[in-house]
Amino acid sequence: VGHIDDVQELRKSKPTQIPQRFVRDMSERPKLAAMVPSPNDIPIIDLSKLVGSDIDEQGRQIVQLKTACEEWGFFQVVNHGIDSSVVENIEKVAKDFFMLPLEEKQKYPMAPGTVQGYGQAFVFSENQKLDWCNMFALGVEPPCIRNPKLWPSKPAHFGEALQDYSREIGQLCKNLLRHMAVILGLKGDVFEEMFGQAVQAVRMNYYPACSRPDLVLGLSPHSDGSAITVLQQGKGSSVGLQILKDGKWVPVQPIPNALVINIGDTIEVLTNGRYKSVEHRAVTHKEKDRLSIVTFYAPSYEVELGPMAELVDEKNPCRYRRYNHGDYSKHYVTNKLQGKRTLEFAK
Ligand code: SIN
Ligand code: FE2
Repeated sequence: VGHIDDVQELRKSKPTQIPQRFVRDMSERPKLAAMVPSPNDIPIIDLSKLVGSDIDEQGRQIVQLKTACEEWGFFQVVNHGIDSSVVENIEKVAKDFFMLPLEEKQKYPMAPGTVQGYGQAFVFSENQKLDWCNMFALGVEPPCIRNPKLWPSKPAHFGEALQDYSREIGQLCKNLLRHMAVILGLKGDVFEEMFGQAVQAVRMNYYPACSRPDLVLGLSPHSDGSAITVLQQGKGSSVGLQILKDGKWVPVQPIPNALVINIGDTIEVLTNGRYKSVEHRAVTHKEKDRLSIVTFYAPSYEVELGPMAELVDEKNPCRYRRYNHGDYSKHYVTNKLQGKRTLEFAK
């Protein structure tokens, strides 16, 4: 990635210029109307009520979670119980990292065909359009997937903030997967047992403001390869995330202190399509920058996966093949983001 492909540098030096490589074909351009704030339709789960002692409240949260997983593939969690200092710290170090001079950030370059380090992921050809986004991604858990050369020395305490955050997010993922299993009539620990030592990776996305948000995309449409994904949006960020629902792009309105959760391809396969991995993208804003911090929670690479026998019957024939999760992950990171194309691997 040269100076000219780095979106923050581009924005700084030539605030109104959009190089051709960022200009989307007509069919891919986001409609400005879709960026007008609209009521938040995406289900909201109150975790304190889901695990609380009020049975009626609990019932309502379970219904919401079921609808979220089966019909939306997305929900927001409020009252998740994660200490606000942990959430604020990760946001601070992420922001501070992106504000470093380019030369400093480029000490941690993302190698082609990998998603670790600083740069543009999922780019494989000269004529592929680029996303209006800078990324910094790291494998975090288990420790053996870490690449210590890519863990930045600046800002101070980056590594500590990331580990504290990842510990909390990992616990949240386990809890949510437990509830998601029970709703399907399965044992609570079915996913945890299947996953082995779960893999957690973090990707920080920085979307500078863009003078022509109608021409570019912050992040190309895709579904996630994870089991579940946890997304934190920076305080004061513009609306940027949109999900594809019944053929329409629905914006996800940021709720203060909430986390956005979505189902990845892995859970769609395991549940034989009962839970949906939904296509989403990010758009940019004319005046505001946006930061998002995304955690991908996934099975261990050695695990063999396929639809669970309990969810396959005459009415619900098996929709996906069995495969090795490591092979799937490899496939995911070596292909460009393109809607739900990555799930073709499992067919
Ligand atoms: C993602 O899908 O990884 C991030 C989308 C966002 O920044 O909201
Ligand atoms: Fe995503």
